[in-house]
Amino acid sequence: MPKLPREPPAADITPEPLWLRRREFLKNAGAFTATAVGVGTGLALLGNRGLPRGPGAVAAATPSVAPDAGRLELAPAPATASTGFTTEEPKTPYEDVTTYNNFYEFGLDKADPARNSGLFTPRPWTVTIDGECNRPRTVDLDTLLEWAPPEERVYRMRCVEAWSMVIPWMGIPLAAVLKRAEPNSRAKYVAFTTVMRPEQMPGQRRPVLDWPYVEGLRIDEAMHPLTLLAHGLYGKPLLNQNGAPLRLVVPWKYGFKGIKSIVRISFTERQPPTSWNAAAPEEYGFFANVNPSLDHPRWSQASERRIGEFLRRKTLPFNGYAEQVASLYNGMDLRRSF
Ligand code: MTE
Repeated sequence: MPKLPREPPAADITPEPLWLRRREFLKNAGAFTATAVGVGTGLALLGNRGLPRGPGAVAAATPSVAPDAGRLELAPAPATASTGFTTEEPKTPYEDVTTYNNFYEFGLDKADPARNSGLFTPRPWTVTIDGECNRPRTVDLDTLLEWAPPEERVYRMRCVEAWSMVIPWMGIPLAAVLKRAEPNSRAKYVAFTTVMRPEQMPGQRRPVLDWPYVEGLRIDEAMHPLTLLAHGLYGKPLLNQNGAPLRLVVPWKYGFKGIKSIVRISFTERQPPTSWNAAAPEEYGFFANVNPSLDHPRWSQASERRIGEFLRRKTLPFNGYAEQVASLYNGMDLRRSF
């Protein structure tokens, strides 16, 4: 994905006033339709055809949450430092989270996704869950979101381009969704696919990547309690530029693993192809765990620019989630399997 890392927008940003309360989230959730942020001209920047170089408590399923968004309850959050479910670090302002994006289906510039995604319609929406499982199905998004109570998770997000944010997500554990499908013993990996809609996603009309965008996790990574299927942030439904209506969040991995606008989740026996690994395998691995001691071929990963901050900060192994996830990789050479 990413081109060379760029400077983030204005460092001096008014703190987001938004910590919207649950009621506001629910109101917004009910009323949400495509957000017309603006319709641009698409990938005018893409004059050349060359690839851009770079992207820049497992709850048992609980079907008791009412379909009426107005009655959704936040799950009691066991959100302590040791769970990794939250952090005391200042949250990145909403304005930045929603205007400084990577979503190449809408363009390559950080401002393009907000500018060019106004025609994208995130509802109605279905997700197909299939592959190596006993109960494959295609499910309406609202039904899927009832499979576990929504939770708030405040996660660091570290892009492979060496910038980072702290984002308060709303979502449900991916494990709750996967368990519903009853994966069989051959299910070793989980593959994810973004919607293919070139008529609404101007970037898909250009050969930037081999569309649709695809990603994957090993099944133990997918089942990990930190792995989230997010449908909102800052208490509001996801805007199109952030991956509406449903995206993956894997906080210990580089941001490109967080595939947006998911329409398919498949259990596979073999490691599935992933978009950035396919585009530039020497630069982007399948695992993509945040690793400050393993530089990208074209830049250091030792430090990062937190959007809104002036000084760079050190990047932490596994993005600060080593306590929760390092054991998943016992015995693996993380320099080879990057
Ligand atoms: N998903 C799709 N479908 N297309 C993309 O281009 N970009 C990835 C990831 N998910 C991308 C995607 C990258 S590189 C990052 S850093 C994050 O989304 C950015 O998420 P954000 O824009 O919400 O911060």
